[in-house]
Amino acid sequence: MQELTVIGAGVIGLSCAWRAARAGWRVTVLDPAPASGSSWVAGGMLAPVTEAWPGEEQLLDLGVESLRRWPGFAADLGPCGLRTEGTVVAATGAGDRAELDAVAAHLSRLGRDVERLSGRELRRLEPAIGPDVRGGLSVPGDLAVDNRELLAALRRAAAASGVGFVARAVQAVVDDGQRVSGVLVDGVVRPATTVLVTAGAHSGSLHPVLDGLVRPVKGEILRLAHRPGAFPPPRRTVRALVDGRPVYVVPRDAGGLVVGATQTETGFDTEVTVGGVRDLLRDAERVLPGIAEYALREAAAGLRPGTPDNRPLIGAPGPAGLLVATGHGRNGMLLAPLTADAVLGLLRGEPGPVDADPTRFQGVTA
Ligand code: GLY
Repeated sequence: MQELTVIGAGVIGLSCAWRAARAGWRVTVLDPAPASGSSWVAGGMLAPVTEAWPGEEQLLDLGVESLRRWPGFAADLGPCGLRTEGTVVAATGAGDRAELDAVAAHLSRLGRDVERLSGRELRRLEPAIGPDVRGGLSVPGDLAVDNRELLAALRRAAAASGVGFVARAVQAVVDDGQRVSGVLVDGVVRPATTVLVTAGAHSGSLHPVLDGLVRPVKGEILRLAHRPGAFPPPRRTVRALVDGRPVYVVPRDAGGLVVGATQTETGFDTEVTVGGVRDLLRDAERVLPGIAEYALREAAAGLRPGTPDNRPLIGAPGPAGLLVATGHGRNGMLLAPLTADAVLGLLRGEPGPVDADPTRFQGVTA
């Protein structure tokens, strides 16, 4: 039986480990605190269309392809908090409406399923949306998942498939210039022949081929809970532009809401700031006024693994035995099924998705 060592137990590492173990690999996952990093903090949107920006069409294609795989992935996994109610996008001021019109026109040109709505039509779909919203979009195909339920399901499925977990931090992948020979743990080399780096924002320091390709992009989120007598929460994910600032609210079962997210680059900093909480609450309340009566349960920050072109790094950049699946930026939950399939392909010696190969940066200064 061939062995695979996976560095990092976030959504990507767990998905790849589970799939590889089911395909017959003997898999060990190393992480000092499994499922506790950015995957734990995530909003859980599976939203290639409403995360799309003009100029990022390759990322949109990857996201759409991964979303297509999500129902099968969830069915294999068992209950994991997949929500299929869809997404609406709301705009407040005239500038926000103009920006949304431009995004809608761009998406329509790409053939994506987007419907423009007036403020009244949006409120008919989601009565929690307030009067400051003047228009928006319906994107029924953009879904969501409860990230914490998903992580628990993946851990269970991985363990049931025989994946072993070691609660240790890996300092580096060790190789002789040709082949991987192990991973460095507590200053000691632990032998390994095939190593998959899925360490999110921490991936960049694990091997020189990733140096400068992955950087931490901080995001702060809040978790709210419906209280008796408060206005009912939306059923769909509600994204919005509020005076130019993006905000999203993702429903969870039993009246929970995740409000996100800020986006700043301040290194490996996971402290929640006063300004971040203020901005998220102010903007979310402009769109969904009823949340003022909700309980504030949690504020947290995670580090998205950013890459120079916002596309993930999935491939075998050499030396032999080194695989990487990292740099998923804002889209780790969404891209998990596609990434796991791509890694399985790499393990079998098949080519990965061409437009995610990390070798695209070789010879380019990051
Ligand atoms: N996917 C949403 C975020 O990164 O905030």
